[in-house]
Amino acid sequence: MSDRESTLSDLLHETRVFPPPAGLAAGANVTAEAFEAAGRDRLAFWERAAERLSWAGRWERVLDWQPPFAHWFPSGKLNVAYNCLDRHVEAGHGERVALRWEGEPGDSRTITYRALCDEVCQAANLLLELGARAGERVAIYLPMIPEAVVAMLACARIGAPHTVVFGGFSAEALRTRIEDCDARVVITADGGYRRGAASPLKASVDAAVRDCPGVRHVLVVRRTGQTIDWDGSRDLWWHEQVGRQSREHTPEAFESDHPLFILYTSGTTGKPKGILHTTGGYLTLVAWTHWAVFDLKPETDVYWCTADIGWVTGHSYIVYGPLANGASSMMYEGTPDTPHKGRWWELVEKNRVSIIYTAPTAIRTCMKWGDEIPEQFDLSSLRLLGSVGEPINPEAWMWYRENIGGGRCPIVDTWWQTETGGILISPLPGVHTCKPGSASRPLPGISAEIYDDAERVLPRKDAAGYLVLTEPWPGMIRTIWGDDDRYREVYWSRFPGVYFAGDGAKWDSDGDIWLLGRVDDVMNISGHRISTIEVESSLVSHPDVAEAAVVGSPDPTTGQAIVAFVIPRGSARTDAEGERFARDLRDHVASEIGPIAKPKQILVVAELPKTRSGKIMRRLLRDVASNRELGDVTTLTDSSVMDLIKEKLPTAA
Ligand code: WT7
Repeated sequence: MSDRESTLSDLLHETRVFPPPAGLAAGANVTAEAFEAAGRDRLAFWERAAERLSWAGRWERVLDWQPPFAHWFPSGKLNVAYNCLDRHVEAGHGERVALRWEGEPGDSRTITYRALCDEVCQAANLLLELGARAGERVAIYLPMIPEAVVAMLACARIGAPHTVVFGGFSAEALRTRIEDCDARVVITADGGYRRGAASPLKASVDAAVRDCPGVRHVLVVRRTGQTIDWDGSRDLWWHEQVGRQSREHTPEAFESDHPLFILYTSGTTGKPKGILHTTGGYLTLVAWTHWAVFDLKPETDVYWCTADIGWVTGHSYIVYGPLANGASSMMYEGTPDTPHKGRWWELVEKNRVSIIYTAPTAIRTCMKWGDEIPEQFDLSSLRLLGSVGEPINPEAWMWYRENIGGGRCPIVDTWWQTETGGILISPLPGVHTCKPGSASRPLPGISAEIYDDAERVLPRKDAAGYLVLTEPWPGMIRTIWGDDDRYREVYWSRFPGVYFAGDGAKWDSDGDIWLLGRVDDVMNISGHRISTIEVESSLVSHPDVAEAAVVGSPDPTTGQAIVAFVIPRGSARTDAEGERFARDLRDHVASEIGPIAKPKQILVVAELPKTRSGKIMRRLLRDVASNRELGDVTTLTDSSVMDLIKEKLPTAA
């Protein structure tokens, strides 16, 4: 049975339902009546959502749609940082906590809206002093520290689009991103704390910018105090430079369509795509969805999104959505098991967190660690739970509900993508009945359908196919940076005229949506998108590899795990050599892309199954990979793999 079929059969047997708790429904930000009304006129609905923000100039119309390019609120003008900071201070909420930050080693900081606004103004003044200007790109490569939020907002304030590169990515990955968007300033730190140790960042920046002559300055936050190399012509300490700047900075209003950020994500080819998001539509979407989906009460809630700022979840639901809404957020630097496996729950207890937003892979990891760990902490402050990044299996959903949510908190399973900017499909906690494993309904103002292979719209009842979006939405990807043709090709050509998400989905008998996983060559490892071809290209760039094929196989914790089939150059190897070889290859992939792209298993084979036209038969390899017990580490020179492959070859029968 394929990955998708087994998911489907699990989901078909799932019948439990959880209606909204009466108390929550009565006081919900979005009630059932409001939901009904909102769905009636899409553009009027988004216009009202935009009015929740502060604009310096009103738009001419809501949408200028030049397929496949959407311009939301054209001629409208606003400043994102003003919306996230100054306006809350002006409204008398300057003393409200914006961020409660917890460092991995146990240090912490509480930052009010006023203090955050001051520091963002100082950083904006510094960027201007360094010659940064509106439209010029700034790369951010930081750990999960408050300065990451400050850096992003400082860029937004001066209209310099940022590209945040996840701190776990390699120097090489950082270099290609800096180069692709031609960033001129890089903001980094000496290092960050992960799993109890200081891991270096500045060293990767040094290696990356060696080949990027366009980079004028590297700003370095001191986080760990570890020894780093210093280039006096280029490097500057953040604390020395930011501290001496003025706290006054008048925000400039930018066009609604002004670029806000570029975020790279994996596609089905080797080259990551720079997803471009702009200003007015994006902020409208993330602010409204954060308020509605999490039923946010900014005065009383303590909200915690566990994502890293290097992913879109961090952009939209740590930084822009919550701050636009004046929320109090917790932010945590480290890993969930440092210094002990109860760290997350200890932080929930300490900070009285009321809303938590995390990924299925984290939930399954906690499940594996045991119920007795969260049991030791007081989690009674929680009132709402969220999930994102991959399909959540009913077992993990139920565990989350019982063991973290105390059986009382609704779970919002939110579907979206880097390209969508914000949540598009999710239950609203005061409106919808939640089902373990279902993302429920499209939000108001969102037009989602499921198509079959022949481009037919399927009825909204008991039907499975491809998820598409038939109308543009605010926050929609504006283009792929520097490559409009690829943008058209990737998203708008599979089914002409509609946005193809790349996910399989089904409508159940009540008209609720269940996501079934990717339908392309993109893997989802712990909620992170990695393309099979990207890993293959990295493997074949190793001098000892002749050919490689990569597939995702089901994994009980990470959702999918990467399995690589590799044909070595030269002679056959002994087992011991094979093991060393596989270790080399995993290190090679880690240094080319990053540790998250390391294959969990490498199978050294003599040949790969191919069609007559020479295409690798991935489906077959997926089946082989799924049938195997995957060990934690790698590898074998394994003839049984080839037997398995042969058994499955149609011609071998
Ligand atoms: C892909 C997008 C959205 C932020 C994190 C990932 C999968 C995302 C769900 C969900 C089932 C989901 C899809 C999607 N996905 N959320 N609730 N249920 N699948 O962003 O890296 O752009 O990945 O993640 O396959 O296409 P991303």
